[in-house]
Amino acid sequence: MKVKNVLLFAAAALFSLQSCESDDPKGPDCNIPNADLSYNLNIKPIIDQQCTSCHAPGTGVVGAVGDFRNYSGLEPYLKNGKILDAVVNDKTMPQGGGMSQAQRDSINCWIASGYPQ
Ligand code: HEC
Repeated sequence: MKVKNVLLFAAAALFSLQSCESDDPKGPDCNIPNADLSYNLNIKPIIDQQCTSCHAPGTGVVGAVGDFRNYSGLEPYLKNGKILDAVVNDKTMPQGGGMSQAQRDSINCWIASGYPQ
């Protein structure tokens, strides 16, 4: 019984290591304020990958508000809570899906710590 528990624990530990995605600097369970996350180091690459194909001038996507290519374009939507709602609470964005939970968690933690640059 004891040996079995140890094996189960080892398997669980291995699994959690594997499910830790490389695009998330703090691991998939990050849902607390995390002051180590910054826009330039951690968040901009996610936004560039997931949002700017629609949320930037010239994309032609009707209704895709703002210009998310830089911090100042993102800021109003951080302040009014729309990004938190769209990405973390309602998961309506990115439109069409394709964002990992780890990336959503990173954005959640970053906003919770006051979205530092
Ligand atoms: C495929 C195109 C597309 C992508 C990619 C996309 N969006 Fe959007 N987004 C839209 C469109 C279209 C709307 C307006 C219609 C709507 O609100 O559903 C919108 C609306 C929004 C709004 C405003 C919602 C409101 O209630 O006013 C926010 C905030 C937003 N998107 C954030 C994001 C973020 C953050 C990402 C990246 C994680 C993202 N979007 C990715 C197309 C996109």
